[in-house]
Amino acid sequence: MLQLRDSNGPAAVIRRADYSAPAFWIDSVHLTFDLDPAKTRVLNKMTLRRNPDVSVQPLRLDGEALNLARVLVNGQGASFKLDGGKLVLENLPLEGAFELEIFTTCEPLKNTSLSGLYVSNDSFFTQCEAEGFRRITYFLDRPDVMANYTVTLRADQQKYPVLLSNGNLMDSGALEGTGNEGRHFATWVDPHKKPCYLFALVAGQLVCREQRITSRAGKEHLLQVYVRPGDMDKTEHAMHSLMASVVWDEARFGLALDLERFMIVATSDFNMGAMENKGLNIFNTKYVLANQATATDADFSNIESVVGHEYFHNWTGNRITCRDWFQLSLKEGLTVFRDQEFSMDLCADASARAVKRIEDVRVLRTAQFPEDAGPMAHPVRPDSYIEINNFYTVTIYEKGAEVVRMMQTLVGRAGFAKGITLYFARHDGSAVTCDDFAQAIADANPDSALSKLLPQFKRWYSQAGTPRLQAKGSYDAAAQTYTLNLSQSCAATPGQEAKEPFVIPVSLGLVGSSGADLPLQLQDGSTSERGSHLLVMTQADESITFVNVAEEPVPSILRGFSAPVLLDFDYSDAQLLTLLAFDPDPFNRWEAGQRLALRSAIQLIASDTLLTGATLLNDAYIEAMRSVLRHLALDAAFKELVLTLPSETYIAEQLEVVDPQRIHAVREAMRAQLASALAADWQWAFEAHAPNGAYRPDTVSSGRRALTGLALTQLCLAARDSGDSVWPGKAYQRFKDADNMTDRFNALTALVNSGHALATPALAQFHTLFKNEELVLDKWFALQAGSCDRGGQVLPAVRQLLKHPDFNLRNPNRARSVIFSYCSANPGAFHRADAAGYVFWSERVLELDRINPQVAARLARALDRWKKLAEPYRSSARQAIERVADKLELSNDVREVVSRALAD
Ligand code: PHE
Ligand code: ZN
Repeated sequence: MLQLRDSNGPAAVIRRADYSAPAFWIDSVHLTFDLDPAKTRVLNKMTLRRNPDVSVQPLRLDGEALNLARVLVNGQGASFKLDGGKLVLENLPLEGAFELEIFTTCEPLKNTSLSGLYVSNDSFFTQCEAEGFRRITYFLDRPDVMANYTVTLRADQQKYPVLLSNGNLMDSGALEGTGNEGRHFATWVDPHKKPCYLFALVAGQLVCREQRITSRAGKEHLLQVYVRPGDMDKTEHAMHSLMASVVWDEARFGLALDLERFMIVATSDFNMGAMENKGLNIFNTKYVLANQATATDADFSNIESVVGHEYFHNWTGNRITCRDWFQLSLKEGLTVFRDQEFSMDLCADASARAVKRIEDVRVLRTAQFPEDAGPMAHPVRPDSYIEINNFYTVTIYEKGAEVVRMMQTLVGRAGFAKGITLYFARHDGSAVTCDDFAQAIADANPDSALSKLLPQFKRWYSQAGTPRLQAKGSYDAAAQTYTLNLSQSCAATPGQEAKEPFVIPVSLGLVGSSGADLPLQLQDGSTSERGSHLLVMTQADESITFVNVAEEPVPSILRGFSAPVLLDFDYSDAQLLTLLAFDPDPFNRWEAGQRLALRSAIQLIASDTLLTGATLLNDAYIEAMRSVLRHLALDAAFKELVLTLPSETYIAEQLEVVDPQRIHAVREAMRAQLASALAADWQWAFEAHAPNGAYRPDTVSSGRRALTGLALTQLCLAARDSGDSVWPGKAYQRFKDADNMTDRFNALTALVNSGHALATPALAQFHTLFKNEELVLDKWFALQAGSCDRGGQVLPAVRQLLKHPDFNLRNPNRARSVIFSYCSANPGAFHRADAAGYVFWSERVLELDRINPQVAARLARALDRWKKLAEPYRSSARQAIERVADKLELSNDVREVVSRALAD
């Protein structure tokens, strides 16, 4: 078992099996804040009572980084002790409610962890999920304790004109009396009970965009987006996204806004993307601020999803919350699923929906599959953790969303909506488990496969690891039958040696030589359909036979990526080319192209082929790519996805032993060949998709920009080999003339990544143009730290960037833009034979850990997959991790990550 220690001795492992209900309930909380950056005073008056279901025991309140001044019980001084950070009170009344008054102070200005109450740009913000509320006051800091909140904020009127908290504004005005000159107050009452992780306050100089809306039921609501003065011109898209979210949740799930006032506030110092505090969402500026001059199409679409995501939490997360943090995916998996569906439903057509699905699957496969195969692998509902902050993972979020998606697949879209309705009928206002959720969806659909298979289906919650599905097909021409044999397995993960079979919904089609789906008829005659058949696999080995199959088909398996599994099928190149040309399922059409590219990449990596000047990709592949690029009916966004090679990270995952330099070299060589072999086609694509009309971030025009961006990159790459200067010149021109950030940044990227001399002046001009736009400067830093390595120039450049006057390690976005872009997103530059990349990594992990353990622990995960590395990378990566692990002064966050990485 994993041994962890820190300066206070071994860190505690928290186990799901140890859950017990709280010994006390907190009914109401009155908080009064005297806000001062150096020392904020917090008066916390709570009404508590014993939980009659739990044996009589002392009250143990969580607290962290607090100075305790006074404790009163029912207005009287009370005896207490501090035990390992907890405030312990014995001899509390046995019967009925009692009042507990606690007076503490904290130091927001010194709070660089950005958990609890902190200062950013002279304003106050809070972040309480998962366990930040205990840094504000002593409390039962667990999600199953839900209370009514009344909050009074008191602060200097000039410095902090805006005072916000959850719920409705009840009272506000000037403070009176001596010592209160120039101070004001505001009192907020939240009409809904909530766990303390959903508490929030904001105070500062902010301006807001407002919108009044009327719900279907005729109720009026006020929507507000608060930003720093000067950022108002970047709030329109967030407000539109919020309005669209309100409409969508009511239309699709019958879930209406339950608040008179719904606020979003942006801050530039934030550990994550955003936070769903009840009625007062706090967002990273990156997911709020956008206009065409400063934000890319990707930013616009991320804002739409994140605004949706946080808004949808208002029901899935806030109205029904988690019983304990092991149930985190109850709210996160479900809410990611909902935001994915929201974005898809906003798409104009089926092709745009497919593009969104492909993008989501790409994230799952490049980030979650590696996590599931590495030292941090954990089930969607984990069994234990040391630091809960380390479990805000792609497994909880993205795999959790896939699990919910499979439920919808098994019960149908309407059945799933019925399930959600039942879930709220049963559990509204309470704190529940993943079991409760799955049970509600199944019970609302008693005849469904989900209902029949529920205990087995729930293995998706309990077993970690990505299942591997192996499929073999055989066609019997005489009998006109086609049989598909399927077998599933799942590799061991830490603490889980053997796995039981999963329920795997496999969406299948048979593509004929004409390119159309063949009619599907099962052997027992039960089904006859054209299109896709849903096979619900439950056994380790299964087979399915289709009859009356007139010709040998190409199977299209796992359409729409119907389950989060790895699929092996021994396709011939010709079969993949058929699917790439014709598969009616756009996901598998894209996938066929990826498989072809992956196959070439893997062969080349294993061979000792010299890469320069060689012909690496066969003509059939090149021709297929040309036909996709020139296709008359496919849209640009889809073409861009097909013509983008699988990422280095994804390629690495397919290999037993990883030589990052070889992968990088092979992928670059393939890219270069695609660039020159298709030069005329790229040129056509660039010209045929020229800007048409005013900028709009919709899927059609953003698809055009994505394809022209890729074309320009490829044309600059081809120019690098041919020495031609026309395309770099055109890229430079586009960089200067573009009327939007997407085109401008794509042009800059094309210059930087082809290593052209014009990149230098362009980067300098870009900095001058946007020196006052922090989110744009993040892009400027990230582009350089993530740029293509040619002879080891990136690391020295990154070290230089750390010394740039605009660099600031305390700001997570800026730290990520340089350090993560290098360590986590630029494998070709990071994995150096001289180990200098790893040395850089260990220095930054330690440096960041003293400032912000959550951010440090995320960076620590950059070397998760070190055991797969070839020598000399493997040994030097291990040494770097050991250097971090050897430090006595480490946060629990980083300690847990490096200990797991080193465990065998
Ligand atoms: N609950 C937030 C979300 O997914 C994420 C978050 C977690 C933010 C912890 C801050 C801290 O929407
Ligand atoms: Zn969330």
